[in-house]
Amino acid sequence: MSDAAMADAAARARQLRREIEAHDRAYYELDAPDIPDAEYDALFRELQALEAAYPGLAVPDSPTRRVGGRALAQFVPVTHAVPMLSIQTETDTTAAGAAQFDARVRRELELPESAAAVEYVAELKFDGLAVSLRYEHGLLRQGATRGDGVTGEDVTHNIRTIRDIPLRLRDETPPVLEVRGEVYMRRDDLARYNEKARVRGEKPLLNPRNGAAGSIRQLDPAIAASRPLRFFAYGIGAAEGWPPLATHAELLERLAALGFPVCEHRLAARGWRALAEFHARMGAQRAALPFDIDGVVYKVNARALQDRLGFRAREPRWAVAHKYPAEEARTRVVAIEVQVGRTGALTPVAKLHPVFVGGVTVTNATLHNEDEARRKDVRAGDTVIVRRAGDVIPEVVAIVPEERPMTAAPQAPGGCAPLHPPFALPATCPQCGSRVVREEGGAIARCSGGLVCPAQIRGAILHFAGRRALDIEGLGEKLVDQLTVAGYVNTTADLYALTAPMLASLERMGGKSAGNLLAALEKSKVTTLPRFIFALGIRNVGESTARELARHFGTLEALENADAAALEHVPDVGPVVAESVRDFFAEAHNRAVIARLIAAGVHWEESEGQAAAPEGPLAGKSFVLTGVLPTLKRDAAKTLIENAGGKVSGGLSRKTDYVVAGEEAGGKLDKARELGVPILDETQLLQLLR
Ligand code: IVH
Repeated sequence: MSDAAMADAAARARQLRREIEAHDRAYYELDAPDIPDAEYDALFRELQALEAAYPGLAVPDSPTRRVGGRALAQFVPVTHAVPMLSIQTETDTTAAGAAQFDARVRRELELPESAAAVEYVAELKFDGLAVSLRYEHGLLRQGATRGDGVTGEDVTHNIRTIRDIPLRLRDETPPVLEVRGEVYMRRDDLARYNEKARVRGEKPLLNPRNGAAGSIRQLDPAIAASRPLRFFAYGIGAAEGWPPLATHAELLERLAALGFPVCEHRLAARGWRALAEFHARMGAQRAALPFDIDGVVYKVNARALQDRLGFRAREPRWAVAHKYPAEEARTRVVAIEVQVGRTGALTPVAKLHPVFVGGVTVTNATLHNEDEARRKDVRAGDTVIVRRAGDVIPEVVAIVPEERPMTAAPQAPGGCAPLHPPFALPATCPQCGSRVVREEGGAIARCSGGLVCPAQIRGAILHFAGRRALDIEGLGEKLVDQLTVAGYVNTTADLYALTAPMLASLERMGGKSAGNLLAALEKSKVTTLPRFIFALGIRNVGESTARELARHFGTLEALENADAAALEHVPDVGPVVAESVRDFFAEAHNRAVIARLIAAGVHWEESEGQAAAPEGPLAGKSFVLTGVLPTLKRDAAKTLIENAGGKVSGGLSRKTDYVVAGEEAGGKLDKARELGVPILDETQLLQLLR
């Protein structure tokens, strides 16, 4: 081989490495991939080919060293030069947890009450796997798990596959530097990975933490390489030839400068109140973070104070983990029920043995739809892991296959069979027996019964009577059940045909109650056009769309006769909503009900005044509410948001700023996740309002 050819190859290899490293940085540090995957792969393969052809070119920090390592026969133990400590846990999840830590620190330091507030750094507590990365003269030499803190396992082959871990320190070559931090997986990366795994018929990963920990503790690096692992640095172990730094905050800055990802959500501040605020603020953002955290970590900032505080057992006295309520728990599925919604949508719901998770007791978890239920293969009797995803709606994450109830005696040569068959939606509606239909290509199955289905009639009437619709006071679930069972009410128009003797025949509807209901019905006849349109319960038409439709068309007749093109001129109305409106008014039955309502005296004044421009902390922010909140009624939540200048709308889109979700929220929650709209629970909403 000629020297010139060799020199050319060396130059090209250097250039390729520089390019690949720059693309890696764009992808992992800046979160902004700057070339298509295929082009990246081409650069990578070219470098691999060059290094294979000229073995002299291979350097230990080449990006190619991240992949293609050989599988190990067994793990090799590593004794940590400086033990990897564990961390004290503060389980009081309120602000008091921060106050207690601060009080402890001040006591240990024997600070008088008059002494200045202690300075701390607050960080996130990442939910992954702790590792120690040993760099010698600037090059990554070894990656190890924490193990028992003294001895871990050598997982260098897997660590090398993590592209946001530098193979070489930026601009520095200390003889020894051990960088410590957390290997983790982002939720969106996990979802994408699982989607691909599903297509390939492979087993999906249970959750980000198991995904991270499971990938690192594999003998074959090809497995780790195939998984979307990431890293955050939060400390150091042994260091030689590296200047000691005065504070933890400086240490984090230095680690970032060396090329390590350091999480931007951190804070240096004095006193426990700032810590408690960080805890609350990150708690509010927890659901919207791209990765899981199970708490925050507080560390005394000054190294000198850390040294004075020292350790107790394996835990430093200068740090604490301030937790959030657990998000996952195990429980048993008592049964799978199928609920029929107001629009006829069928939702499988797992009835659970009550379990405390994410700060509340959960007895139901949604399985979303038939495909989901079957993909997770949830059956009655199964032990399942439930999760309040981002602390919101409980859902079944996965089953625990080993715990599945089986037949006592072997059924076949294969052994015992599961006691229950796979889940399937019924072919007919559990409420009315009508055929269940599934829209083409859609995941949602619906009862075709429309207004013969008691669940839909009941839902339609409750919706019509709701506070934001015609606001019929006293017409709640129980009474609606009685009225429909008695056959008195089959459509909303029947409400206005109710008489005192009819009501008197119902249980608990003696004298005064009957009179009150009739008075409330009378009162409800005076309404507004937006409320009336909303009350009709047209699919996909929420309160704010109803308001826009009323404003745009001015009269009910104009709306009834509008074609798709005219409808799509209304803000917020696209082809889907337009079709729903057209379908609704195309139904003779619906027009008949409207005519009867108007004949009964339901009417509205023309046009409501325009609202003033919003002011307040949430000015200009749009919210979508879904599900049942633990303490706030929908209307109360809505009023609070509107009083703070925010806007509550029914239609979720990319432009929505926040989704506030409670128990039993359904498709909107999925859609919010899909669109990347931040999801809040009630506590987080209240925090935002403060
Ligand atoms: S510091 C001072 N900081 O928590 C004790 N640990 O450490 C050394 N963890 O499994 C650890 N996020 O992986 C520290 N910002 C953070 C952390 C963190 C998560 C984990 C760590 C270990 C456990 C106890």
